[in-house]
Amino acid sequence: MSNYHIKHLEEYYQVYRKSVINPENFWQEVAEEHFVWRKRWDSVLEWDFTKPEINWFKGAKLNITENCLDRHLLTRGDKTAILFEPNNPEEEAQHISYKELYEKVNAFANVLKSQGIKKGDRVCIYLPMIPELAMAVLACARIGAIHSVVFAGFSATALATRINDSDCKMVLTADGSFRGAKTIDLKGIVDEALNDCSCVENVLVVKRINSDITMQKGRDQWLQPLLDKASTVCEPEIMDAEDPLFILYTSGSTGMPKGMVHTTAGYMVYTAYTFKNVFQYKENDVYWCTADIGWITGHSYIVYGPLANGATTLMFEGVPSYPDYGRFWEIIEKHKVNQFYTAPTAIRALAKEKLDYVESHDLSSLKVLGSVGEPINEEAWHWYNDNIGKKKSPIIDTWWQTETGGIMISPVPYATPTKPTYATLPLPGIQPVLMDENGNEINGNQVDGRLCIKFPWPSIARTIWGNHKRYKETYFSAFENKYFTGDGALRDEVGYYRITGRVDDVIIVSGHNLGTAPIEDAINEHPAVAESAIVGFPHDIKGSALYGYVILKETGESRNHDNLRKEINQIITEHIGPIAKLDKIQFTVGLPKTRSGKIMRRILRKIAGNDISNLGDTSTLLNPEVVQEIIENKL
Ligand code: PRX
Repeated sequence: MSNYHIKHLEEYYQVYRKSVINPENFWQEVAEEHFVWRKRWDSVLEWDFTKPEINWFKGAKLNITENCLDRHLLTRGDKTAILFEPNNPEEEAQHISYKELYEKVNAFANVLKSQGIKKGDRVCIYLPMIPELAMAVLACARIGAIHSVVFAGFSATALATRINDSDCKMVLTADGSFRGAKTIDLKGIVDEALNDCSCVENVLVVKRINSDITMQKGRDQWLQPLLDKASTVCEPEIMDAEDPLFILYTSGSTGMPKGMVHTTAGYMVYTAYTFKNVFQYKENDVYWCTADIGWITGHSYIVYGPLANGATTLMFEGVPSYPDYGRFWEIIEKHKVNQFYTAPTAIRALAKEKLDYVESHDLSSLKVLGSVGEPINEEAWHWYNDNIGKKKSPIIDTWWQTETGGIMISPVPYATPTKPTYATLPLPGIQPVLMDENGNEINGNQVDGRLCIKFPWPSIARTIWGNHKRYKETYFSAFENKYFTGDGALRDEVGYYRITGRVDDVIIVSGHNLGTAPIEDAINEHPAVAESAIVGFPHDIKGSALYGYVILKETGESRNHDNLRKEINQIITEHIGPIAKLDKIQFTVGLPKTRSGKIMRRILRKIAGNDISNLGDTSTLLNPEVVQEIIENKL
């Protein structure tokens, strides 16, 4: 029996038991068998959730790019590593072999070095979904620089916040990006952001859309001429197991976005292991994850997990609706995709379109269908199963988080029987528990509670960049000696988990985590706004959409409300990005508050979701009369 590759249910249970009885032995075996180490570890695991401090493979030395690139050269040099499908279907796809990728990453790494980037420096990557994005990530890892990829849909303000928080020395960007029929002026956004970032010394620019941009002398350079001059050999920087590999920002319910720090060895071992098992990847398969590398899904399951397994990973630059709603299915047919990994919001959007878009394509290559980012509702699950998988490809509902680094709860396809809307069973090494509000573990099945993990796994984020205190408070303080996920879950009669959603003020819109506080802060900057509160409400395609309750100042009251709504969404777009725009904005004279002044979001959530039959006791509110007013004026 191999720990590394599970093929049937009985084997899953055996491996799982082993991983729980002796986790250190289990992960040691995985690490020994499948990776290149420059020096072996002194200890497999040292941990203390009270501090919290977690060390995996302490003392080991390695470079993750040696594992993702160099070691495949002999056996897979000509195999396609990255299969790039451009936004425009008329533009040819690129097949970048392991050998080419190796050379390009090395050249890129040499360019970074020549620009003064050293081990431990932070490099912000703000690029569209083009091969240079994956190469940039790997080039940083090659020289031990810490990459911080910011999704290229974020605004200049959001980008500046992230650059400053981690004190990035360099920004890698492009002249612009293609998105369906539109182009986006990425360089312009970077220029605006950098007005507020004194830490950035250099900007390297990829030419993608051939637009006219301004290059700031002494700061900005085109990447290509530098690459042309660079050597294609760059010795990997030898890293400690616990050296940071990257920072990736995720929204919290309050305050600044959190720069989650992932380290090298544990992240590599866990993403490689889970990629192999969750997608049942076989040597000549073509694997496609539709996420953007700007999110954790792209880091772990477009770049590191697949490449550590020598897989062919498809990168798509465009959107599912361009040039029409058949684009995903066309790509699957064209490249004979075997594993397809996407988000419920995409499935719901495509399920609304004519079935012709699906039926005109041959999808028979598919073997595994993945879902990630939010709970997949029953209707979307069945549509995916019936029309895309033709009831033959198991649906892998994968639950995990930016913080967990890799997939935590998921069926192992062809081993774990699937069940609609259930992420099913924990992967080996993952020990989930459900907790009640009083901090007690809920035992048995057919129960629901707050989802925690009681034992460390190799790819858990180690800290929040520059704020270990917040890391401790957010994840390790709600329940003693446990990692708290922020999600609610239920466990059915056979022990399967179903994730029911966030239990905090994070709202997941189209699979993107959005904290309410930063959006409210943005709105409150509008000169006519006195106060605001954001809640989520159910939405057919996005899963949840945002509903804003806004109190205007006297100066705002006399103004045209539709114009104000546009201006409010404009401010949000500027501060965060278009993904955080509100679907509905209701102007109100008050917000329901407790006597201590806290907004009762529960009530606002119910009203926004048309669920006013059971609002609970409102008599203890400071201003109960406002509730009726809000109901009467609901949009
Ligand atoms: O609420 C859970 C939801 O997405 C959150 C994590 O978001 P993020 O850090 O952006 O990472 C998304 C990609 C891994 C979780 O706390 N979530 C993610 N996957 C699922 C899910 N909710 C239900 N089912 C899932 N499969």
